[in-house]
Amino acid sequence: MAYQSILVEQRGAVTLVTLNRPEALNALNGQILSELLDAMAAFDKDTSQGCAVITGSERAFAAGADIKEMQSQGFASMYGHDFFAGWDAFTRTRKPVIAAVAGYALGGGCELAMMCDFILAADNAKFGQPEIKLAVSPGMGGSQRLTRAVGKAKAMEMCLTGRMIDAAEAERAGLVARIVPAAGLVEEAMKTAATIAGMAPLAVLANKEMVNAAYETTLTQGVQFERRLFHALFGTADQKEGMTAFVEKRPGNWTGK
Ligand code: CAA
Repeated sequence: MAYQSILVEQRGAVTLVTLNRPEALNALNGQILSELLDAMAAFDKDTSQGCAVITGSERAFAAGADIKEMQSQGFASMYGHDFFAGWDAFTRTRKPVIAAVAGYALGGGCELAMMCDFILAADNAKFGQPEIKLAVSPGMGGSQRLTRAVGKAKAMEMCLTGRMIDAAEAERAGLVARIVPAAGLVEEAMKTAATIAGMAPLAVLANKEMVNAAYETTLTQGVQFERRLFHALFGTADQKEGMTAFVEKRPGNWTGK
C-alpha cells in the first residue's frame, strides 16, 4: 500500500512511523487511520521487526481527530458506522509501540499516544483532551486511558476544562515515561526501541501482554496471569539461551523460539 499521510521507514529491527499531514497538524482522519492500521499490521507480521516508534512533527504529534471530517456528521452516521471503532485494531498490535510525542498531542492525538505502550515526550510536548470546547467529548478512549494513567482528579479537570498540560506535568502525573530534549526525541525513541527489539521476541510479547492485563483484571487474576506466562517462557529455547548466556558471561543470541 502506498501511503500519503504517513511515512514508514525500517531502521534495523525498528519501524519508524511518522504522521505526515503537516497542513492539518497531523489531524487524524480516515485515511491516516487506514494507513496506520495497514502499517501496524505489516509491522506485527514482519519477523525482522521488533519494536515500532510513532511520531509526528516537532510542532504536533497530532492535534486531534480531524474536526473538518466530523463537522457535518450526525448521530446516525457516527453511531451507525461506529465511528472511531477502527482504532481498536491499533491496540491489538502485539509487538511494542512507543509514542514519541513533540508539540501538540490533543484529543485523538493524546488518545493515540495513550494507545501506544508508553510515551516518550519532548520537552515541548503538550497533552490535552479539549473536545469539550467543541461541545463533544473524547471518543478514542481518552476518558478511560487518561483516567487510568493520571487518576480521576487530573483526568476530570482536563476533560471538563480542556486545559493542556506540559511535558513536566505529564511526567509528574505518570502519563509519560520520560522527557527528552525535542531535538533528540526521535533518536532517543529509536534507541529505546532498538533496546526492546534486541530482547528475546517471545519474552517481549509476554511482558507487554502481562502489563496490559493489569488494566483488565483484579490483582489476583493479574498476578496469576503473569505467573502462567512466566512459566510458559520456560518452554522457550530463548529462556535456556538467556540464562546460559548469563552464566557464561556473554550476550544472549535469540532465535525467537
Ligand atoms: N482537525 C482538523 N484540522 C485541524 C485540527 C483538527 N483537529 N487541528 C488543527 N487543524 C488545522 C487548522 O484548521 C489549520 O488549518 P488551516 O490552515 O487550513 O486553517 C491548521 O491545522 C493549523 O492549525 P492552527 O492555525 O489552528 O494552528 P495554531 O498554532 O494557531 O493552533 C492548535 C494549534 C492549538 C493545536 C489548534 O489548531 C487547535 O486547537 N486544534 C484543535 C485541537 C482540538 O480541538 N482537538 C480535538 C479534536 S476532536 C477529537 O480529537 C475527538 C476525539 O476524541 C478523537
